[in-house]
Amino acid sequence: MPLPHVLLSAAVSLDGCLDDAGPDRLLLSSPADFDRVDEVRASVDAILVGAGTLRADNPRLLVNSPERRAARVAGGRPEYPLKVTVTASGDLDPRARFWHTGGEKVVYTSDKGARRLRDAGVAADIVPLGAEPDWRLLLEHLHDVRGVRRLMVEGGGTVHTQLLQRRLVDEIHLVLAPLLVGDPRAPRLFGPGAYQGGRLRLLETRAVGDVVLMRYEPTAPGTGALAVPADRHWLRLACELAAQCPPSRTAFSVGAVVVAADGTELARAHSREAGDPVVHAEEAALAKIDPADPRLPGATVYSSLEPCTRRASRPRPCARLILDAGVRRVVTAWREPDTFVRAADGTGLLRSEGADVVVLPEFEPAATAPNRHLLG
Ligand SMILES: NC(=O)c1ccc[n+]([C@@H]2O[C@H](COP(=O)([O-])OP(=O)(O)OC[C@H]3O[C@@H](n4cnc5c(N)ncnc54)[C@H](OP(=O)(O)O)[C@@H]3O)[C@@H](O)[C@H]2O)c1
Repeated sequence: MPLPHVLLSAAVSLDGCLDDAGPDRLLLSSPADFDRVDEVRASVDAILVGAGTLRADNPRLLVNSPERRAARVAGGRPEYPLKVTVTASGDLDPRARFWHTGGEKVVYTSDKGARRLRDAGVAADIVPLGAEPDWRLLLEHLHDVRGVRRLMVEGGGTVHTQLLQRRLVDEIHLVLAPLLVGDPRAPRLFGPGAYQGGRLRLLETRAVGDVVLMRYEPTAPGTGALAVPADRHWLRLACELAAQCPPSRTAFSVGAVVVAADGTELARAHSREAGDPVVHAEEAALAKIDPADPRLPGATVYSSLEPCTRRASRPRPCARLILDAGVRRVVTAWREPDTFVRAADGTGLLRSEGADVVVLPEFEPAATAPNRHLLG
């Protein structure tokens, strides 16, 4: 199911705190950075915070710049992004500023929390999601029912931790502020638990006044049939590689990337690379990896076209090469058409031998683009 692009946004002190332990909100960002946050808010469809942040900070979560609001309206969007919060308890003050400023509001909650919020007269669309709201269901609802394509999450630490651990985050905007809190009771950005192993990808660093903005994205592939945001990044790269293939009238242009479970790229390749007129992308990528590499069984192969099952040019087709390499997860954009081989079913072969194959059809246009001349 498609989900919104989820952007986590937070500011932390040099000692990693989101706030101090006092009753008032600690201002970590610089004035210039508050303006940057305002710009990001103006770019999204919805802004979410957890109930803990509503109780602690009583935020309004508005786009403050009249010019940015006017630009949203001129672009056919509501003046303010949808405001979203999540609470299991339903213990929220109906007088909080969140409910009485800006545009539409929605609160995701438990069945019990919904009763409490209704009794309190909270001015919002109250959506119960069972006993304990599930993040994936919540994001699906935002996407399908509310039309949210970009969601900015502005804390707090509990919500950030849950979303990152559940592998639902596309992007992190982290601001490091030049001050120290030093209080062991102060909330931290991310709590303990299971995160992706390995390193996230640094997208940008930028000084904004006296703070530094760092943008990261997760890199680790999903597991099994479940796709995570990093899968989309790697498949997009495979489709870009497909566009680099030397043209051919007798073979597809395909790109492939092999990625370890911790998000380390092991190899990338494209069809007919390095002067080999018949080499396939997955074959060329796997050939760059030591067959004894212990990361292969946990790796994912991303291929713009599903791996082949029959070929005249080499004895072993790519689906077989992948299985023989020990790889058990493949993500692809495009099922093979009958152009050269009738009823090729690389996905079927891989699945029949225990591999998970994830097809992300939203990438099919990018995968087919360099092959348009073959498709009639
Ligand atoms: N520096 C920054 O950028 C920044 C940004 C935002 C917040 N903060 C700080 O962060 C602190 C608040 O963080 P926090 O961790 O205490 O709170 P939080 O993450 O804002 O909210 C946690 C609450 O959200 C609800 N919740 C979370 N996951 C849920 C789920 N799956 N289902 C249902 N409800 C769920 C629960 O509410 P119920 O308890 O009502 O069930 C939970 O107690 C404050 O000190 C605030 O100032 C800092």
